[in-house]
Amino acid sequence: MNNWKVKYLERIVTPEQAVMHIKSGDRVVIGHACGEPPSLIEALVSRAADLISVEIVHMVAMGPAKYAQLGMEKSFRHNAFFVGASTRKAFEEMRADFTPCFFSEIPRLFKNKILPVDVVLIQLTQPDEQGYCSFGISVDYTQAATESAKLVIAQVNSYMPRTGGAKIHLDEIDFIVEKDEPLIELNPPKIGEIEKAIGENVAKLVQDGATLQLGIGAIPDAVLLFLKEKKDLGIHSEMFSDGVVALAEAGVITNRKKTLNPGKFIATFLMGTRKLYDFVDNNPTVELHPVDYVNDPYVIGQHEKMISINSALQVDLMGQVNAEMIGSRQFSAVGGQVDYVRGTSRSLNGKSIIALPSTAAGGKISRIACELDQGAAVTTSRYDVHYIVTEYGAANLRGKNLRQRAEALISIAHPGFRVSLINEAQEKGIL
Ligand code: COA
Repeated sequence: MNNWKVKYLERIVTPEQAVMHIKSGDRVVIGHACGEPPSLIEALVSRAADLISVEIVHMVAMGPAKYAQLGMEKSFRHNAFFVGASTRKAFEEMRADFTPCFFSEIPRLFKNKILPVDVVLIQLTQPDEQGYCSFGISVDYTQAATESAKLVIAQVNSYMPRTGGAKIHLDEIDFIVEKDEPLIELNPPKIGEIEKAIGENVAKLVQDGATLQLGIGAIPDAVLLFLKEKKDLGIHSEMFSDGVVALAEAGVITNRKKTLNPGKFIATFLMGTRKLYDFVDNNPTVELHPVDYVNDPYVIGQHEKMISINSALQVDLMGQVNAEMIGSRQFSAVGGQVDYVRGTSRSLNGKSIIALPSTAAGGKISRIACELDQGAAVTTSRYDVHYIVTEYGAANLRGKNLRQRAEALISIAHPGFRVSLINEAQEKGIL
C-alpha cells in the first residue's frame, strides 16, 4: 500500500471524534458557500453545551447556519464577511458580528495572522493517486485558512467534483471524516420581465471576445440569456453558476480570446446545481484558484475587454453605489464587487457594470436616489463607478461631472420618479 494510503486510513475519525479537538475560545473558519462541510458543522453544533465563545468565521453561509440560531450565542459567536439569508437575523439581533473586508483581501487576514486560525473545517474530494485532494467548488479563502490553521479537519466526500487548480496533500490534514452526501445546491433564480429588460441592456455593452465576471442572482442570469449571439466570450469570475454551462455548451463561451489563462474558465468558487458540479468535475478547462489571485484587481485588469456585472440596492445621483445595506441594516457585503470594479477599470476596453432594477418594494421606492439612505455604506465609490444599468437603459458615468451624472442617472430611473428626483436635485443644488 502507498505510504499516503496508510496515513489516510490512520487519520479517519467520525465527525463527533473530529470536533472533540475544538476548544472553547477557538477561532474556527468554515469552508465557503456550497463547499461547507455539513457533517462537521452539524457535529460541532451538537457540542454547543460543552463550548463557550467559539468564533465561527465564514463568508456566504449556504447551509442552515445553526451556530447562528437563537440560543447558540453563548457557545458560538458568528463573525461573517458577508451577511446572507441564514445569518441575517443573528446580525439584526446583535448575536453575530460583521467584518468588512474585500474578498481578495480575506486570505491575507489569515496568512498574516491578523485573524489567526485555530481550526478549519473543510470539504474535499477523495485523494488522487499521489495523495492530493482537490478543494472542489471552494478554493477562495478556504485554501489560505487551511494553510494557516493549527488544526485541519476535512470531510472527504465523493460528491465533491475534482476541479483543476488548488490542491492539498493528505499530509496537511489532521483528521479526515469520510462522508458521502450531496453538496448544497443553489437553484437558478426566477427571472422576471424587469430582469430580462436589464439583461438585454447589459448584453448590449458586451463585445465579442470579452472576458466576463458575473455576480450571483437573477440579473447576471438574465444577462446570460441575451448573450447567445455573441462570439468567443471568456470567464474570469469569482464564481459562476449553471447559466454559464448552458452558454459553454452552446459554443458562445470558448475562453479562446482571454488575455490570461486562454482556454480556461477561471473562478475561485462555484455555486449551482448538480449540473454545474458535473460540468466542472475533472474538466481540464476549469480551474479554481485562491481569491487573492482571481480577484486581484491587477490580475483582473490584465484582461482586454474585461466586463464585470454586479448588482446594487441603491445608487445616488453622484454615482455612489450601495450594494450591501438597507438604511443602517447590513443586508449583504462587498463580496468581490470592488475588486472587479477596480480591476476592470484598468482593462483595455473594459467596462464595469452595476445593474439593478429601478425600483424596490413593489415599485414604491426608487433605487436611484438623490442621496443614499441615512446609515447606508458606500460599496463602490463615485471615483470607481463606470456603468449603471436599469431596465430603462445604461448610464456611462466615467468622465461625467456631477451635474451630467445626475442627468444620466435620472434618465434611467423609473419614469414615475424622474420629476421628483429632478425637483429634489434642484433643491439640493445638484442640478
Ligand atoms: N430600499 C429598500 N429596500 C430595498 C432597496 C432599497 N433601496 N433595494 C432593495 N430592497 C429590498 C428589495 O425590495 C428586496 O426585498 P424583498 O426580498 O422583500 O423583495 C430586498 O431588498 C433584496 O433586494 P434584491 O434586489 O432582490 O436583492 P438581490 O438578492 O438581487 O441582491 C444585492 C442584490 C446588491 C444585495 C447583491 O447583489 C449583493 O449583495 N451584492 C454585493 C456583493 C457583490 O456584488 N458581489 C460580487 C459578485 S458575487
